[in-house]
Amino acid sequence: MKILITGGVGYIGSHTCIELMTMGHEAVVFDNLSNSNIAVLDRMRSIVGCAPIFVQGDIRDASALERLFKSHKFDAVIHFAGLKAVGESTKQPIQYWDHNVVGSLRLCEAMNAAGVRTLVFSSSATVYGAPKTVPFREDFPLAATSPYGNTKLTVEGLLRDLAATHDVSWKIAILRYFNPVGAHPSGLIGENPNGLPNNLMPIISQVAVGRLEKLNVFGNDYPTRDGTGVRDFIHVVDLAKGHLAALNALSDMQDDEKIMTVNLGTGRGYSVLEITRMFESVSGCVIPLAISPRRPGDIAESYADPSLAYQKLGWKAELDLERMCRDSWRWQSMNPNGL
Ligand code: NAD
Ligand code: UFG
Repeated sequence: MKILITGGVGYIGSHTCIELMTMGHEAVVFDNLSNSNIAVLDRMRSIVGCAPIFVQGDIRDASALERLFKSHKFDAVIHFAGLKAVGESTKQPIQYWDHNVVGSLRLCEAMNAAGVRTLVFSSSATVYGAPKTVPFREDFPLAATSPYGNTKLTVEGLLRDLAATHDVSWKIAILRYFNPVGAHPSGLIGENPNGLPNNLMPIISQVAVGRLEKLNVFGNDYPTRDGTGVRDFIHVVDLAKGHLAALNALSDMQDDEKIMTVNLGTGRGYSVLEITRMFESVSGCVIPLAISPRRPGDIAESYADPSLAYQKLGWKAELDLERMCRDSWRWQSMNPNGL
């Protein structure tokens, strides 16, 4: 199949391109490089033997999208492009609505005009807000606790509306990711945040290589095993494979189903201290840490019920916490200053 991957130079998109090309699909990447580095394309070539076709552009640019869809006949689109930092979204809500909501709307318009109506969308566990129980199931009530979360909820709503139209037939998979970590086992690509990282794993690995002084643990008084936050960390390669499984499931989808929404997680939670200890053990580095106040907006515990993904996609995560830490460390130690 010929697949358009928006945001395909980024962290999850680049790992997904590798899986797609390895399975013989043709990949065309559309990315404005606002949070990624073009050097990733050469790294992909070293891993797979070929690189995707790259088109630099912005998903908010309707004429660029029109040209893109005129130049290529796509079978499906995987839509990663957007902004993703929860804290930043509270300071720049307009940018988040512009890139994530307006950009997604423009993309859907261009797809519709070109008659390409098979779409896999990157959503997030953040759409569950702060549920009272774990594991999180897809039928839990939805709530946003940040502008970022609102943009994901809004795009999910747009996609449900598209799927409900009768005159044309969309096939849509909404994938709600839990906490992606890890890197390609080659160590050639991985998470490459611009500026100071916000997420736990890049912070731990930057402390390990000496770029950051210490890890601030945001709260040790949560009602969890050791008092620190618990998350469902998922290896980015498993996550990438989930997108291939979603494309296959959309190909087999009955005409009347039109949309599916599934969690992509492992179904297991680890605490901030547990993942830090695992990282120390595989890297041989000591991670100095300090207990800090809770981070506003954080919840105590988040992990997926991944059974619907297995049922609908035949997919389940396979790589364990040790592999996640080992692969993150290989990437960080081979590229101490990123790309
Ligand atoms: P990333 O920032 O590494 O990748 C996003 C890519 O999109 C970047 O290459 C960036 O340059 C590009 N981009 C941003 N705005 C664009 C625009 N307007 N037009 C074209 N390109 C644009 O992020 P990621 O971690 O790979 O996340 C991919 C998707 O998954 C995002 O939609 C994110 O919200 C979602 N998601 C990520 C996480 C996570 O923790 N990484 C968790 C849940 C959901
Ligand atoms: N944490 C620390 N110190 C840090 C950074 C994080 O203790 O310096 C803790 C947090 O308090 C939390 C855990 O590590 O308990 C994970 O935090 P992250 O920032 O790595 O991830 P979040 O669970 O807050 O959110 C991530 C993405 C969101 C996405 C969500 C669910 O950032 O975009 O996973 O997929 F929505």
